[in-house]
Amino acid sequence: MPDTAAAPFVPSAIIGADLPRIDGPLKTTGIAQYAADYHFPNMAHGVAVTSTIASGTIRSIDAGKAEKMPGVLFVLTHENIDSVYRMAPGGRGGRTSEARPPLIDNEISYWGQYVALVLAETYEQALAASAAIKVDYVQTAPNLDRKLDDPQTDALPLRTESKRGDVASAFASAAVKIDQTYITPAETHNPMEMHATVAVWEDPKFTLYETSQGVVNHQHVMAETLGVPRENIQVITRFLGSGFGGKLFPWPHSALAAVAAKHLNRPVKLSVNRRQMFTNVGHRPRTQQHIQLGANAQGKLVSLRHDYRNQTSLHDDIRENCGEATPFLYSTPNLLVTSALVRRNIGTPTPMRGPGAVPGLFALESAIDELTIALKQDPVAFRIAHDTLIDESTGHPFSSRHLKECLETGAKQFGWEKYTPAVGSMKRGDKVIGWGVAAASWGAFRGASEAAVALLSDGTVRVSSGCQDVGTGTYTIYAQIVSDRTGIPIDRIRVVLGDSSLVPGPTSGGSVATATVLPSIAEATDNAIKVALTTATTTPDSPFHGKPADSLAFHEGRVHIKTQPASSGTPYQEILKAAKVQAANGEGKSGPLGADPKAQGYSTHSFGVQFVEVEYDPEIAHLRVSRVLSVIDGGRIINRKTAANQILGAVVMGVGMGLLEQTLYSPKTGQPINGNFADYLVPTHADCPKIEVTFLDHPDPILGEYGARGIGEIGLAGIAPAITNALHHATGIRVRELPITIESLLNT
Ligand code: MOS
Repeated sequence: MPDTAAAPFVPSAIIGADLPRIDGPLKTTGIAQYAADYHFPNMAHGVAVTSTIASGTIRSIDAGKAEKMPGVLFVLTHENIDSVYRMAPGGRGGRTSEARPPLIDNEISYWGQYVALVLAETYEQALAASAAIKVDYVQTAPNLDRKLDDPQTDALPLRTESKRGDVASAFASAAVKIDQTYITPAETHNPMEMHATVAVWEDPKFTLYETSQGVVNHQHVMAETLGVPRENIQVITRFLGSGFGGKLFPWPHSALAAVAAKHLNRPVKLSVNRRQMFTNVGHRPRTQQHIQLGANAQGKLVSLRHDYRNQTSLHDDIRENCGEATPFLYSTPNLLVTSALVRRNIGTPTPMRGPGAVPGLFALESAIDELTIALKQDPVAFRIAHDTLIDESTGHPFSSRHLKECLETGAKQFGWEKYTPAVGSMKRGDKVIGWGVAAASWGAFRGASEAAVALLSDGTVRVSSGCQDVGTGTYTIYAQIVSDRTGIPIDRIRVVLGDSSLVPGPTSGGSVATATVLPSIAEATDNAIKVALTTATTTPDSPFHGKPADSLAFHEGRVHIKTQPASSGTPYQEILKAAKVQAANGEGKSGPLGADPKAQGYSTHSFGVQFVEVEYDPEIAHLRVSRVLSVIDGGRIINRKTAANQILGAVVMGVGMGLLEQTLYSPKTGQPINGNFADYLVPTHADCPKIEVTFLDHPDPILGEYGARGIGEIGLAGIAPAITNALHHATGIRVRELPITIESLLNT
């Protein structure tokens, strides 16, 4: 197996260290500047006006009163935007969120769509004037049906996502069958930091201070949308107050702010407010998933069918890839995964942490639980029995799959030997205890990246790349890799990220950033070291002058004779000073996994298992998630603290998915009726269980030298079904539509 063939690379103790974020002090002291924190002299403020219907057209828009209000500079609408700036659809040279540019015509396809942008001297003036804009609509009946059956969609052939064997005959002849539909609601990303753009126009260049999970992609899309060369767009995102996927791709407000800045020839700030966060910047779409499982009399899964559909908007085809993990998670000879899109008068959806896999695993791991109950099998043992080291959808071996070890380790740590399967059979005082388990999976990817490292003559290092830190710890990981290879302590390494004018880095999405950036940082560091060593041999005042460069080594920040200890060497900055140079510079460039010959013929994924305990108080129908144990097979862990933090946060988000989160749209108007922080519930401290996280820490030999895979998303996969499985164990109630509500608990 590839695992045993791992390169004999031994990283230093800094890799895997329990290291706090290097940008932590900047954030906790308020020095860190987020996009909306930027202020410029003469800055104007924008407030967007949004539609109050979900379907129809604008008959007329009256900005006359608003335009005369104090401080108002301009009102942008679909009637005048073309004369102000002609925008083009983005999305050819980068990925955009919405294909249609904002304010392009008078058509309304969802409640909350931008219909005007008011620009004023102050935010308050813009806000006041925005309330004075009168829009007259021609309404048509919106399609807001929560049931994702749809005559139009149903008439079209389903898209086949994965297929092997013959599910129909295998299911027909199966001894034990599960045939159920599972539903996950629309969920809204609610990062603390709302989306915002501060746009600055300095002919011929736009500078956009952005809330972006991908500054380089944002630059590419904006260059297309605004029709200017890429070098005339600079996107800056130094810090992010999280994103969860909502900030992956540009949203229309960014282009609106840029257009306004050029038109006014003034910097413009445009923030998306919390209410607009529920309509204008994406959401996880509602899904409806039909699963058919068939097992033979011996308890072997012989047939697995997963048909899913998800809601998308009228103009964009966003597929929530619910079958992400279905084709390869368990061994089965017959399998079919199909999908369909269903259009609704709701804004465009977008990836949300573990897109597809997370709602998909709710369905699959619920159905597997139902099957194990029907088979009277232990849910852990069933999953172990159906483990496979070959991806049966492709026939390729996994680069590194330890799902069985996750299950065994988790069962041991959770105390699964005490599990008694009968419903309501486990008690603690007056409370009924329920235990549930579910598997987790998320793709392991690596994209292209560049990095630049400068070993500076003042003894510090600067490492830079056009990546960004969502809050996950990317800054810290850059410093760790440089420190690992140079022996220079973390506090002397300065990381510069979040600027599209740096050498290009990847988007922080799909849990790809860590695996993607590591090879480029490593190469850039090694190249900078090479330059330092060459400088040492070619500088007359250097103690190593005239020596062959390959007789030297670089450790603990010193250049030394390879055969002698680092302590005998010379600090590199002394050599640079002797050479009268400011820096030894190195660049690194690494390609995507798909182009790596070493990765051909492997299936690359991360795995995990979630064990959940719920406490149920039958007297008052009170349900609480009391304990979660998460065992993650995510490759080598680069930073234990930030990695554990990713899983802890994801588990909390999973409690929200199981018990609280859902965006409810008015069935009449399409307005999110809980579109605010008071009514859209996310877990508070009181809702949080005791959480334990275990990383197996097996380096993936295919992903790269460090063997790291991403771990930003997998922690959420499997939590919601483990909760509903535990609820069933405690109460016998099977919840197939999230979230679990008080009504479903009382329905016994
Ligand atoms: Mo993640 S949904 O790719 O930010």
